[in-house]
Amino acid sequence: MTMGKAKKAWGGRFAGPTERRVEEYTASLPFDWRLYPYDIQGSIAYARALTKAGVLTEVERGRIIGGLEEIKKELDDGRLDPDPTYEDIHMYIEGRLIEKIGEVGGKLPTGRSRNEQVALDLRLYLKAEIGEIRAEIRELQEALLEQAERYLDVVMPGYTHLQRAQPILWAHHLMAYVEMLHRDAQRLRDCLERNNVMPLGSGALAGTAYPIDRAELAQDLGFPRVSRNSVDAVSDRDFALEFLAGASIIMIHLSRLSEEIILWASAEFAFVDVPEAFATGSSLMPQKKNPDVAELARGKAGRIFGDLMGLLTTMKGLPLSYNRDLQEDKEPVFDAVDTLRGTLQVLASLVRELRVNAERMRRATEEGFLNATDAADYLVSKGLPFRQAHEVVGKIVRDCLDHGKRLDQLSLKELVRYSPLFDEGFFGYITLDASLHRRGIMGGTAPERVREAIQAARAELKKGDVKG
Ligand code: ARG
Repeated sequence: MTMGKAKKAWGGRFAGPTERRVEEYTASLPFDWRLYPYDIQGSIAYARALTKAGVLTEVERGRIIGGLEEIKKELDDGRLDPDPTYEDIHMYIEGRLIEKIGEVGGKLPTGRSRNEQVALDLRLYLKAEIGEIRAEIRELQEALLEQAERYLDVVMPGYTHLQRAQPILWAHHLMAYVEMLHRDAQRLRDCLERNNVMPLGSGALAGTAYPIDRAELAQDLGFPRVSRNSVDAVSDRDFALEFLAGASIIMIHLSRLSEEIILWASAEFAFVDVPEAFATGSSLMPQKKNPDVAELARGKAGRIFGDLMGLLTTMKGLPLSYNRDLQEDKEPVFDAVDTLRGTLQVLASLVRELRVNAERMRRATEEGFLNATDAADYLVSKGLPFRQAHEVVGKIVRDCLDHGKRLDQLSLKELVRYSPLFDEGFFGYITLDASLHRRGIMGGTAPERVREAIQAARAELKKGDVKG
């Protein structure tokens, strides 16, 4: 490694060298090297635009593009020269280009600023990553659908306040996450809408003085639109904030799912068994099998919220247009992308492998008066106003609690003491099956509806595959 061989692009105005510490402190190359494919893609398109604008000859364009393609290959092979005097990936590629093809390489930055270059690179990067993330969300949805279908007739207690509430299908509970993830994918698609704006041509801030065809450049780079204000184009990072906000909401959903897996895997619930391949042990307690994957997924949510908070805080109060503070946009975005993708991938595998203790779940629906609402509904079906029915059943539950009985263990003789409306039909009315089947409304837990919901979700995912 040669130290400090790169000449600074802005060195002309400076009489002396930069302090070593300053170089280290201001450099972004240690992390923004990840943008190199996009930076090169942008430069190749820009070289074409400069040629059309009459700035480069065809021969010069050929040499510049050839050089850039070579640099791309080098970097694909992992050959990055960590010379600390390269401030960032833009200067690195420019420096390497001049090294390779000579001074003609110095024509590439004509009329172009790193301020717009970095905005372009980050937009291209996010566009590619959002595509991957949306595919990974789909994978997790498919894993949930697989689970739902595998255990289609398993019932579990539905909870409110983490207290047993009403019986639902396990599949219905899982399908709630499929819905959340559906909105998450939509949110990312919406975010792409505003991300897909091509900033080149903005120059440092005022717009470039060269007649480049921005519309054509946008097309070349796969953007449907160009930015409409050069000051905004070099200052704006709301596309990144929007992505981080979307990523944070996804992590909320993944964290809630993880929390439930952790609870369900505890001996107290024992609803699911986390396969050994997805669990870890304790260095001290020989008996332990811990759901660390779900715990880390829950924990990493905090990290992504931190990424969002960090960038929001960086942006707050920045005067227009570009400020070096904006260099702080990349690490939170990269971290959020890596963390989110890793979490989606590992949770999809975990969900696929979860084994359900159907017997245990069913037994849990039998204790705790999960059919109390059905009992009240029964009285309503006999003509009693709901509020009174609620009161009657409340009293029955109270007495059952005192005597350690379930609703279905009361005799008709006992029941009519609370209301003359009770008859033999009551016992059939409050069974688990009856309770589930009565909830055949759109969006309800009746087995028929849940089966339809699964089919609809499958069809939607397929459609999404085609549309990308
Ligand atoms: N490394 C910089 C960033 O990430 C690129 C733009 C630098 N522009 C400048 N004028 N210093 O934001």
